[in-house]
Amino acid sequence: MRIAVYPGSFDPVTNGHIDILNKTSKLFDRVIVAVVHNVTKTALFTLEERNHMIKESTKHLENIEVECFNGLLANFLADKNACALIRGLRTVNDFEYEMHMAWYNKIFSPDVETIFVISNSNNIFVSSSGVKEAALLGGDVSSLVPPIVEKGLQQKLTKI
Ligand code: PNS
Repeated sequence: MRIAVYPGSFDPVTNGHIDILNKTSKLFDRVIVAVVHNVTKTALFTLEERNHMIKESTKHLENIEVECFNGLLANFLADKNACALIRGLRTVNDFEYEMHMAWYNKIFSPDVETIFVISNSNNIFVSSSGVKEAALLGGDVSSLVPPIVEKGLQQKLTKI
């Protein structure tokens, strides 16, 4: 069985992430989305909220599972017996950061290949941070995120 792990902050999940999951689910038997606490970022949504929003937005994909994870990604990859680590690539700006991560992950998980997936062109510039900023300033983000995320953003932002 070929198992891939797609790790990220997903704060919140966007249509770009869903696009990557639509593509990846066709390539692997199981795809495990790892919702990770990124120690370098302050999150708007809790890990559980992010997990719930991804589960709701991927109900159409039978081989996708979602789990929260804290710690070294290599341990999670080994625990899940993953052969691939999926990351989305948008523009050239992502490239250096992603290459660094792939390099570290290769050291800690030599048997796991990092595979970069490019989303469809309509989602190429969508980012969690862009969506949060736009929503905070009253922008309509309904074309950029799944409906449950749009609702979640509205609920969060009315509390700020
Ligand atoms: O969506 P993000 O924030 O770009 O995802 C980054 C993430 C969470 C995948 C990365 O920070 C990560 O893998 N964190 C787990 C800790 C780890 O293993 N770090 C070493 C690899 S650089």
